[in-house]
Amino acid sequence: MTPSDAPQFSRRRLMTMTALGGAGLALPGAPAPAAAAEPPARQPGRKSVFGLKHPPMGKVRIGIIGVGGRGSSLLGNLLDIEKVEIKAVCDIVPQRVEAARDQVRKKGRPDPAGFAKNETDFENLCRRDDVDVVYIATPWEWHTPMALAAMKSGRHAAIEVPAAITLEECWQLVDTAEETQRHCLMLENCCYGEIEMLVLSMVRQGVLGELTHGEAGYLHALPDYLLSQAAPAVWRRRHLTRANGNLYPTHGLGPIAQYMGIHGGDRFERLVSMSSLEHSLSLLRDKLPADDPRRREKYVCGDINTSLIRTALGRTILVQFNITTPRPYSRINMICGTEGTFCDYPPRLHLRGKGEAWETDLAPYFQQYGHPLWKKMKETALKSGGHGGMDYVMNWRLIQCLLEGAALDMTAYDAAAWSAVFPLSVASVAQGSAPLAFPDFTRGEWKSRKPIGLVGA
Ligand SMILES: NC(=O)c1ccc[n+]([C@@H]2O[C@H](COP(=O)([O-])OP(=O)(O)OC[C@H]3O[C@@H](n4cnc5c(N)ncnc54)[C@H](O)[C@@H]3O)[C@@H](O)[C@H]2O)c1
Repeated sequence: MTPSDAPQFSRRRLMTMTALGGAGLALPGAPAPAAAAEPPARQPGRKSVFGLKHPPMGKVRIGIIGVGGRGSSLLGNLLDIEKVEIKAVCDIVPQRVEAARDQVRKKGRPDPAGFAKNETDFENLCRRDDVDVVYIATPWEWHTPMALAAMKSGRHAAIEVPAAITLEECWQLVDTAEETQRHCLMLENCCYGEIEMLVLSMVRQGVLGELTHGEAGYLHALPDYLLSQAAPAVWRRRHLTRANGNLYPTHGLGPIAQYMGIHGGDRFERLVSMSSLEHSLSLLRDKLPADDPRRREKYVCGDINTSLIRTALGRTILVQFNITTPRPYSRINMICGTEGTFCDYPPRLHLRGKGEAWETDLAPYFQQYGHPLWKKMKETALKSGGHGGMDYVMNWRLIQCLLEGAALDMTAYDAAAWSAVFPLSVASVAQGSAPLAFPDFTRGEWKSRKPIGLVGA
């Protein structure tokens, strides 16, 4: 696929994003610097979605919008889960819709309906009465509009990361979930990694003591890929020409937020952000032939963005973003407490009274603290695949909650707060690394909620 037939941003979406990349002044809904802004009052007819439950479902009927790389991989996991029916698939590239339908038929399942007329055909998928949940795996700028359409049509929304790219969109997700009382879940698969769930289990059992600091990141060297003509590279690169900040925060941050009980007794309060100069991608761009249209692209996003979050309880979190520098992959995944520190890449642990060095043989810890979900389904998860099995575990868990009529592990408030790092970091960088307040998407309810427990136990 060439850039010319790759999905284009609509004019409205383009304007929102251009505003983001500017001086930061036009950032929709940006709160006053540093001071904790009062959240807008909840409008009549809306109510909290904390602990939201729906009646148990006999089966879960799914429609998927966006069946490119990620959507078709999610589809593969969903087809491995019992009591899931794929009812409809949508993409603006008709061949992808056909390939997805084929994927379903090859599993001996009924042929799903296809939607590929144009870039708003997803609205017709959302209107279908035989769909319970709409999965959304499209480029970032489509996530919120599609999730809103799904919820307003009475469907639950399961959105790829990040769920939103402006603060206005973060609020729209929260407000619409509260108004429609639909689940609005960001598909943050990294919360379901075997290691992340081990650490969550250790944290909940007090092994690390009181948590004080975490470090998260998305450090994924993709420069050659990013400069390529592959459709997903084209839309990702376009974001790098428009916004300078921490553009993919949730993979690293989601697990840290869960360890810390964000929205279960704590919340993100403020953020400062700084970007390095941009160099790596433009260096590669300048090696392209002189007449290549990519030579005219200007990348505004610095090579490395470093953002710092302070929570209401006074904890700190470092969040880094770097996709253009040659380096080994890492989400950092460090969590520090009064009794010890865990750090990933490679996984290691240091506990009080256990010598000076890191412990690198974690087998005994997996045995003692390994998460019940992973103990139960590791083999199946590895077989189904997707980022070392975490994608299967995430999807299985979502389906299980819907079948049981249980509350989901993550809420619209999590989707909003974790994604808000994107627009807040852009605004902070544009304002000389000014501290900016996170909106309190929960409107104070974070104080009385409990942190997520050991789900599935
Ligand atoms: N959680 C993870 O581990 C993970 C991994 C990869 C990608 N992602 C996320 O998944 C999403 C998709 O990424 P990808 O790599 O699959 O990109 P992709 O470009 O391969 O797939 C996106 C698909 O959306 C389709 N699309 C675009 N606009 C549309 C519209 N208006 N209606 C219907 N379809 C439309 C495109 O044609 C394409 O097939 C992104 O948000 C990305 O951040 C998450």
